[in-house]
Amino acid sequence: MEFQNTFKGNFQILEQMQIANPAFIKWAGGKTQLLRQFSELYPQKFNHFLEIFLGSGAVFFNVKQKFNPSQSFLFDINEDLINTFKSVRDNVDELIPLLREHRDKDNNKAYFNEQRQKFNTMKHGLEKAAIFIYLNKTCFNGLYRVNSEGKFNVPFGKYKKPAILQEVKLRMASKFLQNAELSVSDFTEAVKKAEEDDFVYMDPPYFPLTKTASFTSYQKGAFLENEQRQLAKEFKELDKKHCLLMLSNSDTPFIRELYSDFNIVTVKARRAINCIGAKRGVINEVVIRNY
Ligand SMILES: C[S@@+](CC[C@H](N)C(=O)[O-])C[C@H]1O[C@@H](n2cnc3c(N)ncnc32)[C@H](O)[C@@H]1O
Repeated sequence: MEFQNTFKGNFQILEQMQIANPAFIKWAGGKTQLLRQFSELYPQKFNHFLEIFLGSGAVFFNVKQKFNPSQSFLFDINEDLINTFKSVRDNVDELIPLLREHRDKDNNKAYFNEQRQKFNTMKHGLEKAAIFIYLNKTCFNGLYRVNSEGKFNVPFGKYKKPAILQEVKLRMASKFLQNAELSVSDFTEAVKKAEEDDFVYMDPPYFPLTKTASFTSYQKGAFLENEQRQLAKEFKELDKKHCLLMLSNSDTPFIRELYSDFNIVTVKARRAINCIGAKRGVINEVVIRNY
């Protein structure tokens, strides 16, 4: 009860400060811009919340604000991402001074390259989380990409004033994350956690709109036809278990066919529309639900 009250208070502060959502990193395919359209699409009542492809966590933060579920289970295959979320949840007071140090350095390519090299050789923990956030804010387009050896290799982004330290957002994100369990997990394992009446949101790497579009170049292999088919299979299993399911994907005949037994609506998103990512346009995405 006490937590609920504190939480409500925090939400009011958030609203007063006009921070719509405390998602604290940029992420390819991030859902921040779609949250208004999503608010009509969430189930009105559920037990726990599960997000299987966490990314920036924009949807988790939004659901937490609206429904304050008693417990959330958050998963992603990206170890560096989950390490960062855990540090924000558990050690935000120690993380902030580390980010302040990065912010107070000259934002130049030499410092960026030095930090990137350090990041690629260090163990998970608080210091690595701070560098992850620093790199996310200063690298090209906030991308996360690794080479064949698993080393982060996105170049310097040349931003004039990158928002390296967003203290209010981080503190708020930390509060929102208190009742959340965070795990590095492939989606096939993560779905096992879901039970009857749980709300499960799934936002996989999108199925490419065209053969050349590289929407799926995330860590640990591509997410192509087989993975999309496997995910649709898991969706059907969870449906049988009476979970409440919501899944985002690109609007393609293949995806519509995979989920033809379910409720499909379209939402409009501004996205990179080619593999270079420089051209942006408004495109339809689908939201698939079993309720
Ligand atoms: C489209 S992004 C999710 C974006 C998120 N909804 C947001 O608003 O930022 C897809 C995420 O799936 C993760 N991912 C890729 N393959 C995965 C897998 N096999 N199992 C679990 N997560 C995976 C990626 O690391 C990435 O964070």
